[in-house]
Amino acid sequence: METVLSGIRPTGNLHLGNYFGALRNFVKMQHEHNCYFFIADYHSLTTNPAPVDLHGNVRQVLIEYLAAGLDPNICTLYIQSNLPEVAELYLLFNMNAYLGELERTTSFKEKLRSQPDNVNAGLLTYPVLMAADILIHKANKVPVGKDQEPHLEMTRNFAKRFNRIYKVNYFPEPVAYNFGDDLIKIPGLDGTGKMGKSEGNGIFLVDDPETIRKKVMHAVTDSGPTIMNQEKPEPIKNLFTIMQAVSKPDTIAYFEEKYNKCEIRYGEMKKQLAEDIISFCSPFRGKILELQKQDKYLHEVVGTGTEKAKASALKTIKEVREIIGFKRF
Ligand code: TRP
Repeated sequence: METVLSGIRPTGNLHLGNYFGALRNFVKMQHEHNCYFFIADYHSLTTNPAPVDLHGNVRQVLIEYLAAGLDPNICTLYIQSNLPEVAELYLLFNMNAYLGELERTTSFKEKLRSQPDNVNAGLLTYPVLMAADILIHKANKVPVGKDQEPHLEMTRNFAKRFNRIYKVNYFPEPVAYNFGDDLIKIPGLDGTGKMGKSEGNGIFLVDDPETIRKKVMHAVTDSGPTIMNQEKPEPIKNLFTIMQAVSKPDTIAYFEEKYNKCEIRYGEMKKQLAEDIISFCSPFRGKILELQKQDKYLHEVVGTGTEKAKASALKTIKEVREIIGFKRF
């Protein structure tokens, strides 16, 4: 069995894109591997969030992952900042991370451009913290999107470097966990690109039916096909992609046919799509609203997760300290 680990950004509400990208696969994966999922709240400090937002976002993400089906009795679900061992490993890895390689990291260069007023050392060493997250449990598989691949490569470099410096074969060289065909990319409702929180083109799992109807009815379309079987332009293709994810095969076939015969009425299609999204989201929404009231349960979940993650982290830190040469007096 592999040890799989994934870090979740505490971004607040999750949308359909998050669900069909990672979340749904995490839920499956927890039964197949030794899985660690954590909420990366240390990482989120690189943008200096207000204290209320920090806690609120962590709480909401925790609730939504539970609502989506992560089972804290099966996987290890925890919050990064409850594991200060990660911060210690990060400190130790920082001693063998070089300024040049950190400055060359694509994500860092992007931050230089996007937040020039706050280029802090946490941003620079973001990949080192990520390596500590992964290697603290000696994970060998990490589900990440394309944007995170360079970080994973750096993790392998830090692991190899540690092994080389101390002449040990201690850390594994983790690789990306690929969901293959299980990964469905959900586009946004604005006609271009994928669904994202900051893009404002998303449907959240917690959205109420009226909100979903409004959002779908406002989705970008065009004036309709004029040639039989013509290829769909992006905004239309996008609506069909969302439909593929949430609607019944009959429904999809019906609208495909209408489109191909140039008889489609987008208003009708959107109405149907909205109702199918509502049916899809409503069990999640129900659980999310329920969990929001269950402070005691959340407290227990976090307690169990911390305990399990701690056991693994403490073992690694103890061994790493020995390898490095720290000795007790
Ligand atoms: N950097 C990841 C992201 O932006 C989040 C993350 C932090 C992570 N630590 C991790 C992902 C460790 C995988 C493994 O999405």
